[in-house]
Amino acid sequence: MFTIETHSTGSLEESYQALNAQLAALLSGERDFICNASQFSAFVMQTVTDLNWSGFYFARGEELVLGPYVGKVACTRIPFGRGVCGKAALTLQTQRIEDVHAFDGHIACDAASASEVVIPVVVGGQLMAVFDMDSPKVGRFSDVDQAGLESFVATFIEATDFSWSI
Ligand code: SME
Repeated sequence: MFTIETHSTGSLEESYQALNAQLAALLSGERDFICNASQFSAFVMQTVTDLNWSGFYFARGEELVLGPYVGKVACTRIPFGRGVCGKAALTLQTQRIEDVHAFDGHIACDAASASEVVIPVVVGGQLMAVFDMDSPKVGRFSDVDQAGLESFVATFIEATDFSWSI
């Protein structure tokens, strides 16, 4: 499996497209939410460079509860509206934070984290989870990265059965 960095023959958009095809193949044949969320977290950590945390928080009532992830241990519950994850849950909008230290209310699980992207996982209009990525580099995520990572989440949603999870 190549990474965003090693797949340098084309543009960053093309790298994300190629990786998204690999992701679809990886998740094909399995629809379990926990299983696919675990594989997805590891796939992102393995293929997207300069990350120190990749994982899910599941929506449970009015708070987020830690789900499958790769990285250092993290806080277990985040109320909607708190931190970057809570803002993504409340607004249902992707949050891309250039410098987490400049974000009022950022929850620091790993002191090494410097930038962050959180993408809401919305199925049939309902928030199921948020997918969170941290980087030790300020400004790690460009708008191209955001679009590529959102396409990964769309593939995850397409591949997964959420019906039992709420
Ligand atoms: N930084 C997040 C908390 C989760 S950890 O990064 C894994 C936030 O501010 O919501």
